[in-house]
Amino acid sequence: MIEDKKVIFSGIKPSGNLTLGNYIGALKNWTILQHEYNCLFCVVDMHAITVRQDPAELRKKSKELLKLYIACGLDPEKNIMYIQSQVPAHAELGWILNCYTYVGEMGRMTQYKEKKAKQNENTTVGLFDYPVLMAADILLYQTDLVPVGDDQKQHVEITRDIAMRFNNLYSETFKIPEVYIPPVGARIMGLQNPTAKMSKSDDDENDCILLLDPIDAIARKIKRAVTDTEKEIRYTKEKPGIKNLLDIYMSCTNMNVKDAEARFTNCGYGEFKQEVADAVVSTIRPIQEKYKEIDADKEYLDKILKQNAERASSIANRTLGKVKKKIGFVV
Ligand code: TYM
Repeated sequence: MIEDKKVIFSGIKPSGNLTLGNYIGALKNWTILQHEYNCLFCVVDMHAITVRQDPAELRKKSKELLKLYIACGLDPEKNIMYIQSQVPAHAELGWILNCYTYVGEMGRMTQYKEKKAKQNENTTVGLFDYPVLMAADILLYQTDLVPVGDDQKQHVEITRDIAMRFNNLYSETFKIPEVYIPPVGARIMGLQNPTAKMSKSDDDENDCILLLDPIDAIARKIKRAVTDTEKEIRYTKEKPGIKNLLDIYMSCTNMNVKDAEARFTNCGYGEFKQEVADAVVSTIRPIQEKYKEIDADKEYLDKILKQNAERASSIANRTLGKVKKKIGFVV
């Protein structure tokens, strides 16, 4: 790590498949920010088990996600890219921070309330407690900036609260992180239901574009996207389907709202959707090609996993050691 650079930490759960929402809301921005920051990009498998996972599938998805990080353009030599469960400090600090977090605070987390409402079986303590583990992830590395999509903003806010509480009790220990929400595409919505977030756990496969979807399926899903009965292509809350497709288009082409709207004046929805599909395919195709290359080289990934988990551990253990001393553990 280069000493004078600021630190970024972020992660994605290896549950389900990586979506275009994950790419636009998080990964794409990481690929830009990696040039200016010391970055840690984690595959957060310990977060994935807050809901039941098939063990063989989880193992496969964790490795797949790391390969996708690389395929999307993240450099595993420059950044620290690793799997969370291979760095035990996350669990250790997570437990300690549990004892500095209030049940009431966790109960107010929107994502927890939404997920709980959807579950018909018993909700685990892990799902309830998940933002504390996320706070541990971030605080272990003295993180300055956390680039995430809009749905994770509240979790970064609670991380700040926990860090300030700890610092006030025991003197300066944790850096207080800032959240980074992208100006475009912070919340990509479902293609079939543009009033709900595009999600990797969604049951309707047409609602969601996956980064490893066949190219023709990607184009087909966009062409079937729900819009409205008007004809105009405008960026407004009143037209959620069109607004969402414009967000996707702008993110894939780096165009601003004004230029994108101008581009589609007097254009029909069919032609518009075709352009959006082309832009998405141009973004995803090279990622899939790179993915195939990485996938073919099994040893490469294992080497990266081992090296990067060691690099992450050595940084994380510094913070953890300080914390243990301050709270009175025998070290
Ligand atoms: P996860 O795995 O649900 O999502 C990973 C990232 O993708 C973003 N995202 C979206 N952005 C825009 N539109 C969407 N439809 C969309 N869906 C997902 C998320 O905001 C996120 O940035 N708790 C986190 C993972 C995590 C983490 C961390 C993140 C664990 N520890 C520490 C940052 C720092 C999560 O479940 O993300």
